[in-house]
This record gives sequence, C-alpha cells and structure tokens, in this order.
Amino acid sequence: MAEYFASRSPEISRREKAHMEAVRALAGECMVLLENNGALPLGAPGGEDIHKLALYGNGARHTVKGGTGSGDVNSRMVVTIEEGLKNAGFTITTERWLDNYDSCYADAQKAYLEQVMEIAEEKKVPPFLVTFEMPFREPQIPAVTPEDVNSSDTDTAIYVIARNSGEGADRKEAEGDYLLSASELAALAALGQAYKKCIVVLNVGGVVDAAPLKEIPGISAVLLAGQSGNIGGDAVADALTGKTIPSGKLTDTWAAKYGDYPSSAGFSGNDGDVDDEYYTEGIYVGYRYFDTFGVKPLYCFGYGLSYTQFSMETLEVAADAHSVRAQVKVTNTGSRFAGREVVQIYVSAPAGGGLEKPLQELRGFGKTSLLEPGESQLLTISFPTASMASYSEARAAWVLEAGTYYIRVGNSSRNTHIAAAVCLDEDAVTVQLKNLFRAEEPLQELSAEGAAAWTYDGEAQEKEAAPKIYLHGADIETETVTYRESEPVWRDKGTVTAWTMDDVRSGKASLEEFTAQLTVRELAEICVGSARGGQGTDTVIGSASALVPGAAGDTTSLLLEDRNVKNMILADGPAGLRLNPHFATTADGRLLVSGDTISGIPMGEDPERTADAVDYYQYCTAIPVATLLAQSWDMELIEKAGRIVGREMEEFHVTLWLAPGMNIHRNPLCGRNFEYYSEDPLLTGMCAAADTKGVQSRPGIGTTIKHFAANSQEDNRMFSNAHISERALREIYLKGFEITVKTSQPMSIMSSYNLLNGTHTANHYDLLTSAARDEWGFAGLVMTDWFTSQDPSFMFGAAVHKYPISSSPLCIKAGNDLQMPGCQKNVDDIVEAVEHPEKAGEEALTLGELQACAARILNVIARSSCYEGSAPYGEQFGELPWIGRCEREEKS
Ligand code: BGC
Repeated sequence: MAEYFASRSPEISRREKAHMEAVRALAGECMVLLENNGALPLGAPGGEDIHKLALYGNGARHTVKGGTGSGDVNSRMVVTIEEGLKNAGFTITTERWLDNYDSCYADAQKAYLEQVMEIAEEKKVPPFLVTFEMPFREPQIPAVTPEDVNSSDTDTAIYVIARNSGEGADRKEAEGDYLLSASELAALAALGQAYKKCIVVLNVGGVVDAAPLKEIPGISAVLLAGQSGNIGGDAVADALTGKTIPSGKLTDTWAAKYGDYPSSAGFSGNDGDVDDEYYTEGIYVGYRYFDTFGVKPLYCFGYGLSYTQFSMETLEVAADAHSVRAQVKVTNTGSRFAGREVVQIYVSAPAGGGLEKPLQELRGFGKTSLLEPGESQLLTISFPTASMASYSEARAAWVLEAGTYYIRVGNSSRNTHIAAAVCLDEDAVTVQLKNLFRAEEPLQELSAEGAAAWTYDGEAQEKEAAPKIYLHGADIETETVTYRESEPVWRDKGTVTAWTMDDVRSGKASLEEFTAQLTVRELAEICVGSARGGQGTDTVIGSASALVPGAAGDTTSLLLEDRNVKNMILADGPAGLRLNPHFATTADGRLLVSGDTISGIPMGEDPERTADAVDYYQYCTAIPVATLLAQSWDMELIEKAGRIVGREMEEFHVTLWLAPGMNIHRNPLCGRNFEYYSEDPLLTGMCAAADTKGVQSRPGIGTTIKHFAANSQEDNRMFSNAHISERALREIYLKGFEITVKTSQPMSIMSSYNLLNGTHTANHYDLLTSAARDEWGFAGLVMTDWFTSQDPSFMFGAAVHKYPISSSPLCIKAGNDLQMPGCQKNVDDIVEAVEHPEKAGEEALTLGELQACAARILNVIARSSCYEGSAPYGEQFGELPWIGRCEREEKS
C-alpha cells in the first residue's frame, strides 16, 4: 500500500503558525515606501487619532498573495488587506463599496470559468491548461460614488491597487494592467479631495504606471506592498501602522512611461511578432540604460523611503588585486522612528578601451541592522576586483580595461557620491574562455556613443577630489577555462555483484561502476522523469504512484526494487511549496479525485469516494513573491525564507524545489516577473544564492534555479527565439546564474522553454555544459522545463509554430540530464539514438553521453534526502567563492 506523507489532521499545525508569523515579520521589511508626506505610519489603532478607515480598491478584499500558474501556492487561507486592518483594530467604513466590488468579482469569475471551459472543449485540452495562457483578470472596478465617501467618519482613505499575472501570458500596456484604469484614476481623484489623507497601497507583482499618482492632488503616501503571501493583509497592516518599518528598495527602474524602457517597442507581441525577440538594447537593461542615456525615471533603481532619515559617510575605500572594500557609517538621524538603510555601491568603469560601458553598475551592497533614532552602524562592504570586468567578444575574455573605476556610494542608483577612484595601469584579463553564443545574424545593438549620460551638480569636482588607489594589471590573476572534449564510455568490468545505491552510498562501488552496469534502456529511464496523476500526459512506466499530490513530478522508480534507486519528488515554487492542500484516498490507499480546484477549475468529487475514504492535508506557507523578497536587499532575510520552504519540503518529502526563478526583468510586461528578482544580475544572483543556501541548509534537499536562460517572454514561450549578443548574454542574462552556481551550488538547474540564438536552450550544449559546468563548475543535474520535448498539442491544440519543439536525444547530447516530466516516446527515442546512431543523424548519441547524464542524476539522488542520514548537499564543496560581502559592526 502506498505511503503518504501528508497530515491526517485538517487542524492548523504549530509549524504553519510559526511559519506564518515568521513571514509576517519579514514581509514588511521588503515593502517599499514610494511616497510619504507624513501620513504614514498611521496613528495607533483605537487611539484618539484614527480608528476608522475608508478602504477601497480591487486588492482590499481580493488581495493577491502571489501570481498565478505554477508560481502560485495553495495555502490554507489568505489574510486580505481588509482583514489585516480589522485584525489591527481598525473599523472599515466602506463595506457598501467593498460588497459592490464582490459582486462584480463573482460575475467576472463566473464568466471567466465559462470561457475557459468553452476554449478547452474547442481545443480539446484540459481546462486548467487554458488558464495558463489566459489568466483571470480583475474585473472593471466600480466607481466611487458620493454615497461611498463618508469623510465625516474618518479622515483617512486607503486605496489598494492589485494586479495579477502568471506563466503562459505576458502583461499588456493596457488599463487595468500596466496602466491604472479610468475608474481607478477617477476614484483616486475623488478620494484625494474628500479625505485629508489618501494612501495608495500597490498590491502588485511588478511595475505599474505609477506616474499619475504623483500628479493626483491629495495623495499623501504610496506603499509598494507587493504580494506577500497568505499572511499578506496582516503584513500590510503592520507596515502601515509602523509595527514593522518598511525598509525595501526598488529592484527595478520604474519608468515615467512604458515607452521609456528600451525594449518596449519590440517586447513580446508589441511588434506583432512573438516568434523572434531581438535584444537590440544589448547590455543597456534597466538602470544601465536609464543612466547611460540620461533618461529620467519616475523612481530609480535602488530607491525607497523610510519612516526615518539616515546619513551616510564613507570612511574609507581600499582596493587591491583581489577585492575592493568600502567602510561606510550609517546614522539614523530621525527622532521618532527606527529604521534600516541599504548602502549601495556602484562602479563606473572606463569606457575608452574599446568596450562601451554602462554609466554605472551595482557591484556591492549591504543593509544595516534596525537602528533606533541617533544610533549608528559601521558596514564594510567588499566585492572581488575581478567583478568589475566586462566581457570582450573580440578577446573571448572577461577584461578589466585600463583606466579609472569610480566607486560611488549611496542609498539609490541616483543618490550616490564618488568615494574613490581605482586606477588600473593596463588591461587585465580575469578569465580567458571561448565565445559560445554567437548570434545567428549580427544584431544592431544600441550604442551609447554620443549619449548624454545622467550626471549631477558637483560630480566633476567629486571625481577630481576622489582619493586615488593605484592597481597594476599585472598583479591581477587570469583564470583559463578548460572545456571537456567528450564523455568517456564506462564499461562494466565483469563484476558479479549487481551494485545497488547502498553500495554507492557506502563507497563499496563507485558511481562509475554502478552506472556501467545499467542497460541503455535503464539509463534512458533514469533520464526521463514522470508527471504525477492527472497532468494530461502518459507517465513513464515504473514511476511511483502519486505520493505527494500536487508535486510537479518525480524521477523514475523503475530501479527501486533491483537497485534501490529511490525516486526524488519535485515540487514548485518560488513563493513557497506548491502542493495540493487536500486530497483523499480509498481505504486501501488509492488516490481519489479530491473535489479541490486546480487554478480555480473545480476538479469534481470522485464518484468512487466512499464513507471510509481517508483525507489528507498538505498546508504550505505562501511566502512573499521573489521580487518582494529581493526588495529587502537583505540576504539573511532571503536565506530565512529559504529555510521556511526547506522545512516544509522535509515535512512533505519533497527533494527538489523547482525554484528560485531568476530571469532578468528585461521588460516590466513579462508575465512572470513577480517570480524573478530584479533587472540587475548581481542582486538576482545573490538573492537566488541566499535562497539556495537557506533551502540547502537542510539535509539532502535542494533548489532548481530556473529558467536557464533568457526566458524573458511568456507569450509563445515554448517557441520564441531570443536573439542576444554574447556580451549581453554573459553580462546580463547569464551573470545571475553564474553567481548563484559559483557561490551556492544549487542541486539543479532547469533549462527554459525558449530558443537562444536559434537553438532550444534545452538542447544547448554550450549553455548547459560549456558555460554552466566547464566555466562555472556546476556539479548538480540539469532538467528541462515541463513537457519541453513533447508534442505540445495536448496543451495548445494543434497549432502551427515557426520553430519546432526541442529534441529529446539532443537534450542528452547537451547535458540536459533529466527530461521532465517526459513520456515513453522520450525513452524510446533516446534508446534508439544510442543503439542505432547511424539512423539518428544529428540526434545520434554515444553511450558515454547517456551515462554522463544518468550518473549526474544518480549522484544527486545518492546524496538526497531519499535516503536516511544524508548531509546538507553543499557540505561536499567546502568553502565556496564569494561575490559580495557585508560585515556589520555593533551599533553605537
Ligand atoms: C513552468 C516551470 C514549472 C513547471 C512545473 C512549467 O510550466 O514553466 O516553472 O516549474 O511548469 O510545474
């Protein structure tokens, strides 16, 4: 009989309570205070000052905890902002308006479900797959009429603007999405007049057009609350009342208008073409563009206010061939509130040596502890000198060009001062490698030649006065990468014993000896994973039954009996662990359809359910979405969030978390930006590494960093071809992955759906093997995104696409070890490609290539929590390299 790991009790557990409390405490710190004229924090509830609130907006009672699709987490409940404010002791005076919106919402949801069912019927695909491409959109918001305004009851109105999005569809520059709708604008104009204080809360996963909020008279404060998980409403109430002090900073540039983003004209379907995406802005993504080209943002990268003020003084900058270090003293100069400040260090590299350079790039950062009024703290922020290098395609190398590197210290990208000038006498190659990603056709990339970069009064004098530090290029070490040539074939040496995984784990047999004993079909089975029941595809023979319902898949259990190869269970994230919160089985353990919903689609009650059915519960915590976590700029906080997830993975027997997502926010309309961290690769890489360290602090479990790489668009995501220059790829789109791999060794990487310069990333040898393994030293396994190498008609219907799907044998050739969830055809195709290479053409495989993939999966399984007594995965690597450090001294 199958063994389930879920709880038999529907009662809220101690773990659930503790995790919700922990999330509540950290979420407030991630929120960004965009505007405040003193209206925030709100007076203590129940005090004379304020105890009633007028609450409006689509996110007030229908608060979005996170996005849709696989990034959604099925939590027990969601605390809405209305509930959070009530829990904090406020009375809400606008029930009538909120009830009115409820009925609009219910009607819209009904109409949406009908439409989904109709399309599913027409395309002959499962309804929940339709929801991926066509997520539910919030309905038109009812107007705020004079009857809805009761400013005699309270002088404070809060308007919550919510937006939702998810995988499979990009957002649009349209009202009610990127743009505020006419009814939202009209309501805000009326509330700004009617109430003394009008506070806007943005319950959004990414950028919206916030420019009108600066213009509407009477708006007193704007809080970017983001989407903070199932305890969200309480966390927002805490931040509004000052119980937690928002200390987040933007991880993206918020433009004055959408057209200001350099990728806006061609992004996704904006130019009518979703097949080919030309990254013509090159390295000029986010603030790298706005600063270099002197475009004024609405809110710059790194920006965020606090309830208090800080002063910042750079005491010293030191540099040598290995690292740059800045010592910065931060003081809370306010008199009423505590707060935390983020010190950000940007570097302007010299542009005269042949390579264009962005005006400045984030190279280091650190956050203070909570400082009471008058308290100071000394931070020492360090980063490797080599991290200031740029990629030269001409030299196939990372190069520090000779010249002056200005070190800028401040609390946002546009509020810094030059603290030092590091002068390098000659070029230094930091890493010598091969070009791997030549674009198929030369890209006409944006050039900064002649552009008027952003500057500020006094910058020129600061440059002159900056203390100079002299470095010799000759002292800087060059690392030269060696690339593997081919995978050797491992031959069985005629051992009589059939090795098991226990022999591998105890050291009796090497992984090589074990793998050499496996047949081609067994090896192929290991490389093709399965989906758990009800995902619309045939599962691979021998896969385990659905022991963790709601998990996204598992590896094969075909070799369980003979060789004790256990199957790892894989479940989504990134905003927590995505499992079915409730399921039921027959008395003898057979899984029943549980009557729950998938993506809002009712699954119906199983007709076989009888009175002796057994109910199980898997309530997981929805943590803040990735962008919100990143806004904390606090790597310890993100590690803590990773530990929360890790603890739940252990409880429900999940080995690999399909998270964190870490694609670059190239354009604000990417439908999955909320699942990713930032427009900046350093911040992205450090966040994903912190998350990985948190999860992997637990024995035998790990993360899967995704989607590798350049998955910046959701429309047509399986067939879109990203055309990117080698330099932009390496400096922007791969850099975060490189940092995470080198500094945290995640157990796994997930390739993306898209093509990269004409090759599916799933089939891209140079991406998955030459870059990730040979250049960065990745030691774990690579897997595909879901159904990557299968006939996709069961998802999309019989549509015609410009580019074909990726190839299953070519995944193996590329070093994409595990095809998820895979199907029998994948196994057969791989076997054929090894056994009959003469017939397979370019898909021909050697036994060595297949063995290498299987061995990497087996290596992870052997070290995993599938076996008793496993160690934290990272322990095998000893001390890993670092990229950014912040040491905090005692407060004074
Ligand atoms: C998503 C992945 C996810 C996988 C499994 C895919 O549709 O792109 O991010 O991990 O499904 O649910």
